[in-house]
Amino acid sequence: LARGVREPDLRGRHVVVSAGGTREPLDPVRFLGNRSSGKQGYALARTAAARGARVTLIAANTHLPDPAGVDLVRVGTAVQLREAVLKAAADADAVVMAAAVADFRPAAYATGKIKKKDGQEPEPVVLVRNPDILAEVSAERARAGQVIVGFAAETDDVLANGRAKLARKGCDLLVVNEVGERKTFGSEENEAVVLGADGSENPVPHGPKEALADVVWDLVVDRLG
Ligand code: CTP
Ligand code: CA
Repeated sequence: LARGVREPDLRGRHVVVSAGGTREPLDPVRFLGNRSSGKQGYALARTAAARGARVTLIAANTHLPDPAGVDLVRVGTAVQLREAVLKAAADADAVVMAAAVADFRPAAYATGKIKKKDGQEPEPVVLVRNPDILAEVSAERARAGQVIVGFAAETDDVLANGRAKLARKGCDLLVVNEVGERKTFGSEENEAVVLGADGSENPVPHGPKEALADVVWDLVVDRLG
């Protein structure tokens, strides 16, 4: 089959994809953020729609064209992302957490812009933990047979870290990327290994984010039965 010509094997399915990176505000003009572009999540949304799914794309701070035929929900913070994911997951067949979720947020939000004071050192920024959305949807399984997919960017012992993370999160599949100087962030391409809770290991060669997305949906379709 030529690329882009696919069986509508997700027809009748509702899939939820999170994309982008959360921003945790310090004051009205500043935030703690990350470098996720949202491209992998958008590729997952586009490919799922092309395979016939009803798609809810929950986008955190992305600057990408709206994909056609997809329900787009925009969020800012991890807490807002959690709300939107849990709501959409209620009747979803699959949930794919491609978003980069901030692990911590500032403990306090200053309603006015934080100002520097002459001759004074800055106050330290106190952080608190954000909820773990992937672990929560995995524990909840809002719908019987729901398939849940996480993403992880790792360094050092990438596979061992990935296996440990898959077990900790309780999801069905974990897409593990190796991060490096020019790899992953903002790039059009990706290279990954998809680990399964069943012990499976599917390497995906370096290529377009759409190709990785289609491998993810192939593995999801296998598990939907
Ligand atoms: N994730 C999430 N909620 C969080 C943090 C992460 O849902 N608060 C999801 C991400 O969307 C991703 C997966 O969990 O699909 C793995 O994210 P990662 O940051 O690698 O996991 P952490 O448990 O935060 O581990 P680490 O300490 O390595 O950052
Ligand atoms: Ca993290």
